[in-house]
Amino acid sequence: MSPPGRVGRKSTTREPIIQEPEPFEPEDPRDAAREQDEAEAIRRTAGVAESARANRGWWDRNADDYQREHGTFLGDGRFVWCPEGLDEVEAELLGPPEELKGKDVLEVGAGAAQCSRWLAAQGARPVALDLSHRQLQHALRIGGGFPLVCADAGALPFADGSFDLACSAYGALPFVADPRLVLREVRRVLRPGGRFVFSVTHPVRWAFPDEPGPEGLSVSGSYFDRTPYVEQDEEGRAVYVEHHRTLGDRVRDVVSSGFRLVDLVEPEWPVWNTSEWGGWSPLRGGLIPGTAIFVCVRD
Ligand SMILES: C[S@@+](CC[C@H](N)C(=O)[O-])C[C@H]1O[C@@H](n2cnc3c(N)ncnc32)[C@H](O)[C@@H]1O
Repeated sequence: MSPPGRVGRKSTTREPIIQEPEPFEPEDPRDAAREQDEAEAIRRTAGVAESARANRGWWDRNADDYQREHGTFLGDGRFVWCPEGLDEVEAELLGPPEELKGKDVLEVGAGAAQCSRWLAAQGARPVALDLSHRQLQHALRIGGGFPLVCADAGALPFADGSFDLACSAYGALPFVADPRLVLREVRRVLRPGGRFVFSVTHPVRWAFPDEPGPEGLSVSGSYFDRTPYVEQDEEGRAVYVEHHRTLGDRVRDVVSSGFRLVDLVEPEWPVWNTSEWGGWSPLRGGLIPGTAIFVCVRD
């Protein structure tokens, strides 16, 4: 999680529904590491298509490492909102678990679909969507029996009013150039009264180095600078992109996309959590927020 996928920022088609599990072949983790070392980290603009292409490639190449590193913390069938460890069992941001039974739920940017697996265990009918085929192969490896859809969150391959609820734990929204495209699409596929809850990196983190230690506690850039963080190869092609929105931008995105914002949750770092996740750590978590969770209703 942001950088949700990266282990730390360096200092500066519709369908197809996957029906048949493909054989799971582990990839050589050295390939992703090599590519990561060679990429140059800069700040520059990156549009919708370039961001999607870069991030699809990055998640495909890094899904194995990501699941190896974070799979235990996420748990195959838990619904964890953030590196702070806030669990939907206690948060109930989608409503009381007993009311999830029979609900159609879309998980956006699902990764290995851990959240969908928990939702299915509550009797809901989840659909897990992700841009990265490799992430979805991990979802297949773990199993679950619900549909997996490989698609961009900005062009959802579903009819209007297909879902009662939608959720996203750091999926898609930190990576897209125009989050309003995703929000409008999610609103379209929700039924009236439906809820969309999504977590992203807390915007305040943008102003700090993405480091878990004390060096991550001193402001190093402007919170107001929306220039994306881009890693690019030697030809100048983006291989990873993250986009920044201020807190006010995020609120305006939600409201202008037709949602009512009913809560903004800033999870505090709990005493039990001694894990680090990239730039998230007990040290920083005790001092500055790391995650913002938006609870939105489609009236
Ligand atoms: C940090 S992971 C979150 C997944 C899961 N919730 C977890 O905590 O592991 C971010 C996911 O968003 C997906 N993603 C990035 N951009 C996307 C887009 N435009 N549409 C759909 N998924 C996207 C990535 O492929 C990745 O699986």
